[in-house]
Amino acid sequence: MNLLAELRQRFAVALESLEPGTAELADMVLPSQDGKFGDYQANCAMPLGKQLKQPPREVAQQLIDKLDLGEICEAPEIAGPGFINLTVRDAWLIGQLQSLVRDEQLGITPVTEPKTYVVDYSSPNVAKPMHVGHIRSTVIGAALCRVLKQLGHKVISDNHIGDWGTQFGMIIYGYKHFVDEDALAQAIVPELSRLYKLVSQLVDYHATRSKKIPELEQQIEDVAAQVEEKRAATNVDDDKLRKKAEKKLRQTEGQLAGLRGDLKDLQHKLATVDEDPTLSRLATEHPDIGAAVLAETAALHAGDPTNKALWERFLPACLEELNETYDRLRVTFDYTLGESFYHDQLPGVIESLEGAGLITESDGAKCIFLEGHEAPLIAQKQDGAFLYATTDLATVQYRVENWHPDVTLYVVDKRQSLHFEQLFETVRLWSHQSPQLRGVDLVHVSFGTVLGADGKPYKTRSGSAVGLTGLLDEAVERALRIVSENDDSREQPLLTDKDRQQVAKHIGIGAIKYADLAHNRTSDYVFSYDKMLAMSGNTATYMQYSYARVRSIFTKGDVDLSLLRSSETALSIELPHERALALALLQFSEALTRVASDYRPNHLTAYLFELASRYSSFFENCPVLKADSEALKQSRLLLCDLTARVIARGLELLGIETVERM
Ligand code: ARG
Repeated sequence: MNLLAELRQRFAVALESLEPGTAELADMVLPSQDGKFGDYQANCAMPLGKQLKQPPREVAQQLIDKLDLGEICEAPEIAGPGFINLTVRDAWLIGQLQSLVRDEQLGITPVTEPKTYVVDYSSPNVAKPMHVGHIRSTVIGAALCRVLKQLGHKVISDNHIGDWGTQFGMIIYGYKHFVDEDALAQAIVPELSRLYKLVSQLVDYHATRSKKIPELEQQIEDVAAQVEEKRAATNVDDDKLRKKAEKKLRQTEGQLAGLRGDLKDLQHKLATVDEDPTLSRLATEHPDIGAAVLAETAALHAGDPTNKALWERFLPACLEELNETYDRLRVTFDYTLGESFYHDQLPGVIESLEGAGLITESDGAKCIFLEGHEAPLIAQKQDGAFLYATTDLATVQYRVENWHPDVTLYVVDKRQSLHFEQLFETVRLWSHQSPQLRGVDLVHVSFGTVLGADGKPYKTRSGSAVGLTGLLDEAVERALRIVSENDDSREQPLLTDKDRQQVAKHIGIGAIKYADLAHNRTSDYVFSYDKMLAMSGNTATYMQYSYARVRSIFTKGDVDLSLLRSSETALSIELPHERALALALLQFSEALTRVASDYRPNHLTAYLFELASRYSSFFENCPVLKADSEALKQSRLLLCDLTARVIARGLELLGIETVERM
């Protein structure tokens, strides 16, 4: 059962009977931050007191008088200005735990009103190698799918791959001008990657030279002028005003320094091409490569037979490569309907939007102007090309018609938030004419950037984005070193070479996944192998180690687990550390509910970390195999077993494997 939900339900009843219309205040029942204030705490008497114009402590008492907590809690206590502190009764706690022992679901009861979720996640642009940024969407999305399913919802996962965009125009252009047929015959994907890299580098070179650098130089000139103005403004006698002006000056100077840094980066980029004889020759020979790539993309979309045939030849190889990564990450999708799938539906979308009166022509482009947004959402360009947003509109329509979702989650980088704001608002307006779209709940589950130690997006030393395959390889290699050193330091090593490799795989990949999940998804985080593979702290390695440590007790004590679970052993709670662990074990379903409430898997990692810490204290303070009596030993073994089961299930929901020994 979900204890928090149960308490809130009971508070809602009491609140409603005290003052109709106040049931929502029951959301102010929360787990206590500090054991001093009981196990749960309700702060609703304060706002209610305000509303009723009565002292909160008195209101708290009236609420308690109405409250039926059954057998769950001791008599509630009023503290401070009117907090209501709740302490779970030991007898009740024991009863609940006892039923967990034989519950496959570990106390997680399915929601009473299951919803249908469509989860759009991973969704890389194929034909260019997946990089570190894609791991966040993949790992967070997969964890959300598992948690929602575990809670009893229906989940449809859909990998909305970018298989129809400019990157294919680049590959096609690259193939037509630079292909090495032998290399392609040998291994298709590496040659396509090379072509992609080469063409995008040349496109970028020309754009940087003719557009990005001149624009930046202009900007630098403007900001430099502002610096001079601000410097002049610091020339005042009044201390306060001067300090203020100096602060502004420093800010603008900082901005200027940043822009100059950006300019240096761009110039460096140019130099890499200019200083390489082959590249600089190619750059000179292909001055209009940017426009040519767009033309190849447009030809593909228009059904040009050569380009279509190339696309059909290259796509399967790209998908195969992608699937290798998904296999390593143990991620699957119900559907992989990429952008190309919607191509034929796009004219219909435009027609429907026009019918709904949403389209305004501007410079020949079909635009949707939205309140609060200066720039419109462009549905079709002047040259007839459709855009990313058009495809997303078709996708919403398709999903609604075929899958009838209550909620659609888009697990996508926060840098796309403007796109999703505009998309969701357009769908809302569109739904006035298309009733089936009414009430669809679209959510951008956004996430921050993976940074390097320098605070900039994580890059390799050569400056290119870090490929996902290399990243996983390195994590596994490092894990292997750690596992081997650890095992070698034992008097008698426990693991064979094969074991070590298997364990290293779970630890290395688990570390990367966990680091991604344990950070609040909306913040950026600094990627560090050392931190994520640390044996202490909130890491996968620590959690896997905790699991293995619990399990080692059963080996050491020669415990038959199925016998233990089926025995009639009565659980008992004697010491505070034992009780703290017991309560945490009961709160697993609360953690999952929290994850589902705001789509943040870090609630689950935080819960597991807390559980492991409580286990650690329990283990230090409450002898298990050497307990005072056989009954107590059995009871504590059951707590150990529950701990191991909850950790394993929690990690499984996060997509992380456990190991028995490491
Ligand atoms: N392919 C896009 C990218 O890599 C992400 C797609 C996200 N999903 C969507 N329905 N727009 O940036």
